[in-house]
Amino acid sequence: MPSQSLPEVIEQQRKEIEGLRQQLLQSQKMGSIGELASSMTHEFNNILTTIINYSKLGLRQKDEQARDKAFDRILNASQRAAKITTGLLAYSRSSESRRDPHNLSKLVRDVIILVEKDLKVHRIHLDTQYLAEPYANVNAGQVQQVLLNLIVNARQAMVAGRTLTIKVSESVDDQCAEISIRDQGSGISPEVLPRIFERFYTTKTADDHGQGGTGLGLSLCREVMEAHGGRIRVETAVGHGTQFSLRFPTVAPPDFSLKSASKQESSESPTGSPSVAAASLS
Ligand SMILES: Nc1ncnc2c1ncn2[C@@H]1O[C@H](COP(=O)(O)OP(=O)(O)OP(=O)(O)O)[C@@H](O)[C@H]1O
Ligand SMILES: [Mg+2]
Repeated sequence: MPSQSLPEVIEQQRKEIEGLRQQLLQSQKMGSIGELASSMTHEFNNILTTIINYSKLGLRQKDEQARDKAFDRILNASQRAAKITTGLLAYSRSSESRRDPHNLSKLVRDVIILVEKDLKVHRIHLDTQYLAEPYANVNAGQVQQVLLNLIVNARQAMVAGRTLTIKVSESVDDQCAEISIRDQGSGISPEVLPRIFERFYTTKTADDHGQGGTGLGLSLCREVMEAHGGRIRVETAVGHGTQFSLRFPTVAPPDFSLKSASKQESSESPTGSPSVAAASLS
């Protein structure tokens, strides 16, 4: 067999690394869904209970108005179930590296559909502030993965009764948008803080079900943000909480009136320069 030249070997190894990186992203993605699986199953049970009960009620009712009301409830419950499954499918679709202009507030709303039951189960209040509807050129699945990682981390750091605040804002002058995820959790100690973006660094030990952290969440968040020419930043105070901020270069909203049929339109890449993640104490 002819031996490979050095550039060929390097190219082959580059491909192997890229393949492994994709596998890592995919397994981390499934891990975060696993975290939500039990609350989602309960949510589906609740939805089915609503559908079954209102169907029975509707069948018993002779009165047209009461029947319409039952149909209305059934429709609402089914639409909610459809929203959750659509969100899940979009999220778990295997990771292509394609990027399109997406409304960041919409991406946040879609992720919230997946996590709101989990937050409710843990009695975490959710405060969402959509101060803008900015567009950025992103891979929607990857950005949702970042959001999910940050929300799950925030939830895990908080005790019942605390609030999770998610804010989307835009600085038109700087042509960038920011998504911030703020918790009222434990905060991160100065010893731990410099290491949180390291691969496989975790402080979460295995619980009774044998599930500890993989320590991959934040390293992947940073990787995804850098690949998008964006930035991830953390501010934390022990005993008070933590805020992660994601900054994206914005693009002009796609002109839906020109290209009507397709759901997402492609556009030029943003001009923002990549920058590394910064960890700072406030
Ligand atoms: N919001 C937060 N509040 C307090 N500590 C946090 C927060 N987010 C991250 N950390 C700390 O950073 C560490 C690394 O987080 P990362 O998401 O990379 O891994 P993990 O959450 O431990 O594991 P996995 O993401 O696989 O569940 C965590 O173990 C935790 O110590
Ligand atoms: Mg995590």
